[in-house]
Amino acid sequence: MVGPPLDEAAQAALDRRFMAAAIRLSRRNAGRTSTNPSVGTIIVRDDGAGPMIVGTGVTAVGGRPHAETEALAEAGDLARGATAYVTLEPCAHHGRTPPCANALVNAGVARVVGAASDPDPRVSGKGYAILRAAGVEVVEKVLATEAAEQMAGYLTRSLKKRPEVTLKLALSSDGKIGRKGAGQVAITGEIARRDVYLMRAEADAILVGIGTVLEDDPALTVRLPGLENRSPARIILDRQIRLPETSKLVSGVDRVPLYVAACLEADPHRRAALERAGVRFIGTETYQSEVALPELLEDLAALGMASVLVEGGAKVAKAFLKEDLVDRIVLFQGPDAIGEDGIASPIDADHIPAGFRKLRDMRFGEDSYAEWVRP
Ligand SMILES: NC(=O)c1ccc[n+]([C@@H]2O[C@H](COP(=O)([O-])OP(=O)(O)OC[C@H]3O[C@@H](n4cnc5c(N)ncnc54)[C@H](OP(=O)(O)O)[C@@H]3O)[C@@H](O)[C@H]2O)c1
Repeated sequence: MVGPPLDEAAQAALDRRFMAAAIRLSRRNAGRTSTNPSVGTIIVRDDGAGPMIVGTGVTAVGGRPHAETEALAEAGDLARGATAYVTLEPCAHHGRTPPCANALVNAGVARVVGAASDPDPRVSGKGYAILRAAGVEVVEKVLATEAAEQMAGYLTRSLKKRPEVTLKLALSSDGKIGRKGAGQVAITGEIARRDVYLMRAEADAILVGIGTVLEDDPALTVRLPGLENRSPARIILDRQIRLPETSKLVSGVDRVPLYVAACLEADPHRRAALERAGVRFIGTETYQSEVALPELLEDLAALGMASVLVEGGAKVAKAFLKEDLVDRIVLFQGPDAIGEDGIASPIDADHIPAGFRKLRDMRFGEDSYAEWVRP
């Protein structure tokens, strides 16, 4: 920064403040940046009258250009001598465009403050090394946990070669998730439903079992004004291809992709009919008469998906938990009971598996919300 020097504590507080803003900005394209994470960059300079933001950037839809490129373009000459706040270590590898670390050097940025580290071996430590070698001051790991939380899908896919799995369920006050044969039972209110739409908008895919499709006929889309085009792909576990052509899922296939994970032996006529309607199939292996979930997740990662929202039902939720494939648990709980004939939830707030820590509690109108994550 060009302005008067700050003492160490004041500088650290300022760095946290602008990094928090960069992390908030990075949410804008979450779920829309393909295999790249949605990164935020803010360029700040101080010419003596206090810090001023001169450039902001978020990874573009589709994954490119990167956030640094966008922010530097906006800042222009004002980037010279400024500080860049980046939520992920700037990239260091040459593709068709030069690495972001070099772009920051070429723009004359004096200081780079970074948050999360990139596990990609082409970047890890190398982006910062390019900056330091060019005389740029580098401060690492400012709000690193918060930034990593925001790009958990990307980090999980890089490290575990599978998408981050969030299990989301809505429970009645007596711990039930529905009633057999009753179709979709309203458990939570409108405000909680809107939060679910937001969660969907930031995910790469929603996954449910065929039991839920046959029982509820859900659309599994984002129905928030202004975000209707943010519905992620829907994935159905359906070994025998029981998915009805008349379902809401199939009728919306021209707007939102729909994948069916079916086994090879399933009826080829049903498969052909659904393919004609636009449904895509993912060939699966089976294990103990169920879709083999680790292999399926690997295939989803190969399709570029970094975050999957598992929305039930009971059997599918239980299977993901049993196979230790859940990274994040989100439980909504409504105020009303369903009663003895309800379907018991495979999980509740008092029975969270070991290794998870509670991240937050919230309220959405009459409904409560709790979220747990695994490091
Ligand atoms: N409150 C909530 O949050 C919530 C959310 C969703 C659903 N629900 C309720 O849950 C009920 C449906 O639950 P459900 O347990 O019957 O059905 P489900 O979990 O949605 O689907 C189960 C079916 O998925 C298929 N499947 C394929 N691979 C699987 C695997 N690895 N693990 C588990 N299943 C696999 C199986 O059918 P095939 O063998 O034919 O492939 C299995 O019978 C409905 O009443 C619905 O309203 C509630």
